[in-house]
Amino acid sequence: MNVSGPTSDAGATSDDQGTGHGVVRIASVAALGGLLFGYETSVINGATKALEEDFAINSGALGFAVASALLGAAAGALTAGRIADRIGRLMVMKIAAVLFVLSAVGCAFAPSSWGTGGLVLFIVFRVVGGFAVGVASVIAPAYIAETSPAGIRGRLGSLQQLAIVLGIFLSFLVNLALRNIAGGANEVLWLGMDAWRWMFLMMAVPAILYGVLSGTIPESPRYLISQQRLPEARAVLERLLGARDLELTIDSIRASMNSEKKPSWRDLKRPAGGIYPVVWIGLLLSVFQQAVGINVVFYYSNVLWEAAGFDESQAFLTSTITSVINIATTLVAIALVDRVGRRPLLLVGSVGMTVTLAAVAVCFGQLTDKIENGQVVMKDGEAVQTLPGAWGVVALIAANGFVVFFGMSWGPMVWVLLGEMFPNRFRAAALSVAAAGQWAANWVITMTFPAIKDFSLTFGYFMYAAFAFLSFLFVAKFVPETKGRSLEDMDRLAGVTDDA
Ligand code: GLC
Repeated sequence: MNVSGPTSDAGATSDDQGTGHGVVRIASVAALGGLLFGYETSVINGATKALEEDFAINSGALGFAVASALLGAAAGALTAGRIADRIGRLMVMKIAAVLFVLSAVGCAFAPSSWGTGGLVLFIVFRVVGGFAVGVASVIAPAYIAETSPAGIRGRLGSLQQLAIVLGIFLSFLVNLALRNIAGGANEVLWLGMDAWRWMFLMMAVPAILYGVLSGTIPESPRYLISQQRLPEARAVLERLLGARDLELTIDSIRASMNSEKKPSWRDLKRPAGGIYPVVWIGLLLSVFQQAVGINVVFYYSNVLWEAAGFDESQAFLTSTITSVINIATTLVAIALVDRVGRRPLLLVGSVGMTVTLAAVAVCFGQLTDKIENGQVVMKDGEAVQTLPGAWGVVALIAANGFVVFFGMSWGPMVWVLLGEMFPNRFRAAALSVAAAGQWAANWVITMTFPAIKDFSLTFGYFMYAAFAFLSFLFVAKFVPETKGRSLEDMDRLAGVTDDA
């Protein structure tokens, strides 16, 4: 059934911005989950040395602690979709908020005097936090897409990425501030607690805010309709999009739902066998987003910049600059996405990433073969610490160029597309699978980088460049344009109905 034209959503015209009342506020509250996602995944960076000392562990055990949070996120993502279809989007946000608070408090108070026991406790709470991150990574894009008017859905969906990068930046600032006040990450700050513990505890503030504010936004109308709660759905839709064509909109959403049965993983399977191709597309978008190595830049920035010949404080400064660039370029994406569409941004991003990543590879090839024990081993085999030469500076510029292209394209667009590209009847389940795949891919890239850098940074960066190149071909051939189309139209894009 096609009650709305291909360029409209919920009875609104393509340039319609909804009633304007609160759609931005509503999306921003949901995007707070992204802020926590960014904070939680990067806060550990500022605490690593302190953790090694307090728990008397080596970097291998620490790597495990970091990685386990990513696997927790994959599990959270996988679980979130089905729960969201059963108990609603808002309830899932509240559960995630509680888990974030638990993780913040648990990590902050894991007693180092317990030795290994304390470390195990710390890891358990990291996994709980990771689980919450995974849940938030599914629920924010789904909810935002389901409550946004088509004409500005790209912009509102990009708020999720903006929140993620702000969260990364915030954790950075908090780390810096607390460390400076205390005089070191494992110096006592307040109430007899070390600074690194406060870094984790601080996360409870946005987490509580997220939980409380999620009580002030309406439930997703698409979820309400799937539960046959029509009067409530009608009221929410009217508030979001205005009264125009309300009944048509509701009919169209109902027609796209599987309301007669409970949602399940089986919905992802085609009657003809196999999984719907759109699910594969979502999964691959996720995998490519990670395979270009974006989180290497964020999680291992110090290693990279010291390899390029910068000292520790210069490396720290460049990481701050990278973070700011990521925020600024997300704003560019927000300005462009609903005008030029998702595909052009992704394609330009892929080309730019291929070139800049290859440039980084070439620079590292000129500079150094590998890093050993924190020392840069130069091509002639001598371990030396140099000032950044011309190649180091070019590497720095190229890597930040890569962040520019990622930030205006693959960073936000993947979250926008995952929120909107799946049909109503299995959006949450498909988004869960794609997001879980993204966390798994993040885990693989993060875990393999230390070995890759020991082997050759040049090789590593040519590999990321190759993935960026493949991502171009993938988008050109498989990724549909969703700009301005109604969520109910996604059935036809995904080929789950045949009345195209
Ligand atoms: C995207 C990625 C995330 C990454 C961030 C950096 O949100 O999903 O893994 O850390 O971009 O900008």
